[in-house]
Amino acid sequence: DWTPSNFVDETVQDLKKKLGDDKVVMALSGGVDSTVAAMLVHRAIGKNLFCIFVDNGLLRKDEFEQVLHSYQDMGLNIKGVDSKDQFYIALNGLTDPEDKRKAIGRTFIEVFDHEAHLLEGVSWLGQGTIYPDVIESVSVKGPSATIKSHHNVGGLPDFMKLKVVEPLRTLFKDEVRAVGRELQISQNILGRHPFPGPGLAIRILGDITADKVAILQEVDAIFINKLKDRGLYDKVWQAGAILLPIQSVGVMGDERTYERVVALRAVASVDGMTADWVHLPYDFLADVSNEIINRVKGVNRVVYDISSKPPATIEWE
Ligand code: XMP
Repeated sequence: DWTPSNFVDETVQDLKKKLGDDKVVMALSGGVDSTVAAMLVHRAIGKNLFCIFVDNGLLRKDEFEQVLHSYQDMGLNIKGVDSKDQFYIALNGLTDPEDKRKAIGRTFIEVFDHEAHLLEGVSWLGQGTIYPDVIESVSVKGPSATIKSHHNVGGLPDFMKLKVVEPLRTLFKDEVRAVGRELQISQNILGRHPFPGPGLAIRILGDITADKVAILQEVDAIFINKLKDRGLYDKVWQAGAILLPIQSVGVMGDERTYERVVALRAVASVDGMTADWVHLPYDFLADVSNEIINRVKGVNRVVYDISSKPPATIEWE
């Protein structure tokens, strides 16, 4: 019968047999799936697994450094690649959500392909594909598939000609977490909220600039840290902040201000297909709002998103 411990033993045996002395390259995202998949492959082949973690300039505040350190602590053979400028250039002037996603997907493939070519003799691509990803990419029905193109599956360039190894292909998310615990991956990674591949780019409505990313990172960090401080983080399925493409009038002292508006979003969900907005306590929202307005220059108004999915989606783009 299925237990995390049996799964780990059998999968590591299978991977050893399948991979032998071959080399594997894997892109890690800091998320649960890619991390657990990498740790399984790492158990099987150790230093023959080459991991790449790309800073696309669209991650949360300090996330790149923190996650890179966790990976190093876990013994993974990981290379952090700072590609922020390449992504910002690719995104320059784009406002349409799907155009932004495509630019990010394309740039990621360029960066990853470049890095993979720097490695000699790699014959496998490791991926953190889980069962729901397999289903979703097969059944391209319904509006959700066309409303937003997700980039977790497929998207590898043909010319790389690598064989694919996907140790989590048969697992659901809760099973992946159980396997992660069995592998002693820190709760810091296993308990993470989902975060979209295109990152903050789809939480900045309109065009992306480094300045806007910096503002949103500050706002988001205040919100997320306060959720953690108040013990609310684990009660929420996903949370984040959205930078709106409008300014609003405010006052500061005797001065009239005309500055940015941010929205906060926190949802309860099981799989992201449907979601309810979370009734966060008013005093908590008041505290977060004060802190954001006092600390983040350029923001003078905070609103809370009280829409559920459907009909609203979790992300605003
Ligand atoms: P929506 O906004 O469709 O989001 O209700 C459902 C879940 O999917 C995530 N999401 C994405 N993840 N690439 C991703 O990897 C994307 O382009 C993308 N768009 C939405 C979203 O964060 C939520 O968890």
